[in-house]
Amino acid sequence: MRFQGKVAIVTGAGKGIGKAIIQKFAQEGALVTVADIHNQLCEETAFEINRAGGRAIASVVDVTKAEDTEKLIEKTVQAYGRVDILINNAGIVRDMKITDMHEDDWDQVLDVCLKGAFLCAKYAAPYMIEQQYGKIVNISSRAYLGNPGQANYSSAKAGIIGLTRSLAKELGKHNINVNAIAPGLIETDALKSHAKYEKIKELQKRDTPIPRVGLPEDVANAVLFFASDESSYISGDILHVSGGRFG
Ligand SMILES: NC(=O)c1ccc[n+]([C@@H]2O[C@H](COP(=O)([O-])OP(=O)(O)OC[C@H]3O[C@@H](n4cnc5c(N)ncnc54)[C@H](O)[C@@H]3O)[C@@H](O)[C@H]2O)c1
Repeated sequence: MRFQGKVAIVTGAGKGIGKAIIQKFAQEGALVTVADIHNQLCEETAFEINRAGGRAIASVVDVTKAEDTEKLIEKTVQAYGRVDILINNAGIVRDMKITDMHEDDWDQVLDVCLKGAFLCAKYAAPYMIEQQYGKIVNISSRAYLGNPGQANYSSAKAGIIGLTRSLAKELGKHNINVNAIAPGLIETDALKSHAKYEKIKELQKRDTPIPRVGLPEDVANAVLFFASDESSYISGDILHVSGGRFG
């Protein structure tokens, strides 16, 4: 098992991509902290992992709050003694034209997608520096390249790239790797229940070299690569999990 005894935190792990990531870590032997703002989803994911023979704790956290993120890291260190891997996955969208976008729509998306990653990294970094070991993987999006109707989200996800590259340069000397994943369209429950799901799938097939929608497991596999020692000489990089589609 690739992550035996390693300690991993995944934010936004109550459902979707984050849940697929944390389940894979647990299956590979990691001791995990399920971090999510949604109490029930958070508890359920941790329960399912423990029932399947893994080891998980739940931590209800709003990643936009410094106090919450500090407690998340402390709770993890109290439970497991260290923190090796941080996956900044929590994210939201508020898609609309710039002319309709209110300040709040901008602030909320930037806060969850970008500030949340900064706060979690800020509080995890001192432990990783002390250990002289750490892996931080930030979930960006192909949208960082620009998308109509997503000025807020695209900006946040482009910000994630800047954060990733800055932290990679700052923390590399402490044996801490910081990388980002840029997924394309991924088939989560939210997408499956979208009114235009079939149409979206058709367009995705038409416009993507690998003609299908991505799966949460596709993203999880890439995350586990960056979190493993197989990628120990890679830092500040972006792995596109988008079926060969850019832009
Ligand atoms: N699904 C896609 O097609 C896609 C594509 C590219 C990138 N992404 C990115 O992947 C990540 C996961 O996306 P998803 O589709 O699984 O989303 P999702 O909505 O299915 O899950 C997001 C999780 O984050 C949690 N969350 C939301 N706000 C939070 C907060 N303030 N604090 C803590 N947790 C919070 C939610 O409760 C939820 O469990 C996001 O960063 C998203 O931007 C998704």
